[in-house]
Amino acid sequence: MRIPPDKLDAIRSANDIVDVISQHVRLKKRGKNFIGLCPFHQEKTPSFTVSADKQVYHCFGCGKGGNVFTFVMELEKVSFTEAVRTLAEKAGIPLTFTQADEERETEIENLYNACRFAGLFFYNNLTKTDEGRSAREYFHQRSFTDETIRMFGLGYSLNSWDALLTRAKEEGIAVGWLLKAGLVRSREEGGEYDYFRGRAMFPIFSPTGRVIGFGARKIREDDPLQGKYINSPETPIYNKSRVLFGLFHAKDAIRGREDALMVEGYADLISLYQAGIQNVVASSGTALTDEQVELIGRYTKRLTLVYDADSAGSQATVRGMDLVLAHDLDVRIAELPEGEDPDSFVRKHGGKEFLKLIDQAVSFIDFKAKQFLRAGAFETPEGKTQAIRSIVQSIAKIPDELKRNLFIKEVATKYDIYESILHRELEKWLSEKRSRREEGGTPETRSIPVFGTVRADRVTEAMSPVPAAERDILKLLLENRTDLVSFIFSHVTLSDLTHDSARRLAELILTHFDERGGAEISDVLESLEDPSLKGLVTDVAVSRYELSKGWQELEVEVEEADPFEIARGAISALRKTKLQKEIEANQKLLKKASLAGEDTLPFIHRHQELIRMLKEVESPDYLKSS
Ligand code: UTP
Ligand code: MN
Repeated sequence: MRIPPDKLDAIRSANDIVDVISQHVRLKKRGKNFIGLCPFHQEKTPSFTVSADKQVYHCFGCGKGGNVFTFVMELEKVSFTEAVRTLAEKAGIPLTFTQADEERETEIENLYNACRFAGLFFYNNLTKTDEGRSAREYFHQRSFTDETIRMFGLGYSLNSWDALLTRAKEEGIAVGWLLKAGLVRSREEGGEYDYFRGRAMFPIFSPTGRVIGFGARKIREDDPLQGKYINSPETPIYNKSRVLFGLFHAKDAIRGREDALMVEGYADLISLYQAGIQNVVASSGTALTDEQVELIGRYTKRLTLVYDADSAGSQATVRGMDLVLAHDLDVRIAELPEGEDPDSFVRKHGGKEFLKLIDQAVSFIDFKAKQFLRAGAFETPEGKTQAIRSIVQSIAKIPDELKRNLFIKEVATKYDIYESILHRELEKWLSEKRSRREEGGTPETRSIPVFGTVRADRVTEAMSPVPAAERDILKLLLENRTDLVSFIFSHVTLSDLTHDSARRLAELILTHFDERGGAEISDVLESLEDPSLKGLVTDVAVSRYELSKGWQELEVEVEEADPFEIARGAISALRKTKLQKEIEANQKLLKKASLAGEDTLPFIHRHQELIRMLKEVESPDYLKSS
């Protein structure tokens, strides 16, 4: 879906960034900006800065920055389109789409609508009907409080073939949508019937809190359907492999703590949540999928898998563990006592004891070693080899080479094995992985290794600070004034900017001027993909001019710095650096010539000329007359 630029502008202007961010972060006025605790990383002193003026935010702690759209994208972990849609809705601005978009949009909205209706219907059945009493008792007997029932929107499907159907008709919801949402089924002889009958209902929410499907638990002996749980079928809004049960409820807690727990069942999650452990998501019984790990990876880089101790549990754990490693998340494994699941454990022992178990969670290395140890494998050299091999196989899943090496070191020390042997073993698995990928098998992960020499260089370059004069130049360019831009570029060129990122950014801003006659910060941000460049834009946008910082230190009162004054300072600083470099280079040439007994005069002349130019640049009147 493409949203026209003028629409984007309208939505952006209707959502003041300070208002939007204030709903999530407590902001305090500090000078021209607002500051608060960064919602994207943990910190105790505020370094998250919002500029009302520039309509951008920037965190000096984690380097993240952007405009109001980026903020919603980052916070809610949604796509650009989704963020725009949310903000458009808030501002009451209708979004128009192409015909196809519109149809798809209608379908999606109708499915959400059908699910929301069903969720409310089930909740009312549970809390307000006589028949619902048995389900109420069931939940209470599982120690779910009324508050928990409300919070998770739990419900009950009446034991009837058409209760939902009839009610939906009264509400004007077309049967077609109920069918497509998996709430009713068609009979062969015609007509439809309710799919969920006489079960305790667990609504499944999207990360933004919309009902997308249901899990339905058996609560009576005479239930004719087989499974303990039956679930909604796959629908356009409910894709099992992409859903994590409880994410909507857990996301704030996960953001706050930077780690998450992964459990298996609906009830496990709800019990933990009720016990105050809220950074939990559930895979809902299916084996963990790539998409699920990717989804949780947007919220946290540390995952603790909590699984039953039984052998099926540990099988699932081993598979899940490797998947998490392949997505470059840190993984730990917490083991429950035999025969317990998280739900039964917290109910018996409480949240505190459960957290102790989590504290004792082990690394994947120790977990695998323990499994082998239990099987007695460590007693024979063959068994030990097998165990180590299996551990190295997991290490091979990690995309980050540096991390892999650290783990290899750990295994070498722990099990007293030569590192070189482990590396050879690792190499074997890695090359197998590579050839599998070349054959077109499913890639383990989309991450790119970053530790080739070239890339490592670039990383250092990108992380070195941008020189003060170049920061000021960028900030001046972002003032979005044609007169300033032409003033600056009549005295310096792009190649005078020594910092790679600064030069790339300046170039992009110039392109904006060329193509659109100006460079709005928001437009610049939206045309950037590289997060570090985005961060650089917002960093300079919310910061003071470097030059005026110097004045401040000298206790010169500057209310509002004159941008041309700043530009003169920055230009002269750039020119000075360049001239000094040239002087140095020329002197080397001079020395060489003199050693070789060649004519040195041209170099001496050049030296004098450069010195004269340097004096000019250093003069207080530099560029004043122009
Ligand atoms: P479990 O069998 O461990 O059930 O399945 P549980 O979560 O402990 O359920 P309670 O405590 O008996 O109510 C774990 C998860 O697997 C899915 C459900 O999501 C369940 O929460 N599952 C299980 C199904 O989808 N269908 C089933 O028949 C069983
Ligand atoms: Mn259970």
